[in-house]
Amino acid sequence: MFDAKLIQKDFPILNRQVHGKRLVYLDNAATTQKPASVIAAEKEYYEQSNSNIHRGIHTLSEEATTQYEGVREKTAAFIGAGSTEGVIFTRNTTEAINLVAWSWARRHLKKGDEVLLTAAEHHSNLVPWQLVARATGAKLQFIPLTPQGELDLKRLDALLSRRTKLVSFTAMSNVLGTITPVKDITRRAHAVGAKVLVDAAQAVPHMPINVQEAACDFLAFSAHKMLGPTGVGVLYGRPELLDTMEPFLGGGDMILEVWRDHSTWNELPWKFEAGTPNISGVVAFGAALNYLNRLGMAAVRQHEKDLTAYALAQLGKDPHVTIYGPRDAERQGGVVSFNYGAIHPHDLGTLLDQEGIAIRAGHHCCQPLMRDYDISGTARASFYVYNTRDDVDALVAAIKKAATVFSGAFS
Ligand code: ALA
Repeated sequence: MFDAKLIQKDFPILNRQVHGKRLVYLDNAATTQKPASVIAAEKEYYEQSNSNIHRGIHTLSEEATTQYEGVREKTAAFIGAGSTEGVIFTRNTTEAINLVAWSWARRHLKKGDEVLLTAAEHHSNLVPWQLVARATGAKLQFIPLTPQGELDLKRLDALLSRRTKLVSFTAMSNVLGTITPVKDITRRAHAVGAKVLVDAAQAVPHMPINVQEAACDFLAFSAHKMLGPTGVGVLYGRPELLDTMEPFLGGGDMILEVWRDHSTWNELPWKFEAGTPNISGVVAFGAALNYLNRLGMAAVRQHEKDLTAYALAQLGKDPHVTIYGPRDAERQGGVVSFNYGAIHPHDLGTLLDQEGIAIRAGHHCCQPLMRDYDISGTARASFYVYNTRDDVDALVAAIKKAATVFSGAFS
């Protein structure tokens, strides 16, 4: 039985107060809080096993290596990767996408080729491709959104052609919450010979994801958005494809043999992990995966669906609230973006902070999407496993209070 109130007890930070009020943390799309078990795992690693990996023959190094590689196995199982060869630890989603941009795209794209993105992409799945386009002469294309903030897939066939070499898209919009049909887009992209990269930063933490079922070529996500520490990301790549790619960064650990004038590369996945990685962070990420596995990802999705439906209903009652996105918890993850009258989202965010409520306000690293909507930004509430209907009620009450401060913002 999924009990968010019980889950809250595992998160020390949720005991603190902000401006004398109970902390209501609704900024989970930016980063999530960490349970005591994750914090303890990092501490225990440093107290008991701290050492460098893949190098030493001493006990600590062996322990550290076993723990680090054990988390790779756990990660592979979590996303249904089948083997650990295709699971590369990076710093974050952004670095994982940049790895593909440098090691695959820059070597394969040329003038006249196209990269197909969507109008909802986060800067991390847009700017790397702008750089690739500038370096190779390839062109960027975009799947537009419908007025409901969903991908306009009627346009997909016209946008896909033999020129399309890569389709890179978010599995869930960090602004609108829109869940995109990964399998359908992947199948249609593969039919024209394009490779597929899924930005799953907002999806892997919130719903069951299986990369073999999705049949994507690459998939990227971050540990810190799923109870783990900052500084750990994951790139899944199809091993046959990763095998053909040149390394991203050069240095220790990613080599097999080194001469003065050349080197040969380590096997997968280590070929793509140069230098000492974030060992303690990866070990703590293992504890985060244990926590989510205990809850079950289907139950996590169901909890967020219930909460999102409740938030949409409660916020929707106020005629001054403008909600962006599908406004349907079946097609939307636990993200609700809105504006309130003419109150600037930053002002609203500041007032909510006074009530102990943490939301994100601004462009959410999606400036082009904000321009499409002709707004400077939104206020965004985003949910996770420890949020409850009480948190939504606190948000709605605080918004109403804001209206009394900014009465001039309602015409
Ligand atoms: N991508 C993160 C967000 O949406 C930082 O807040």
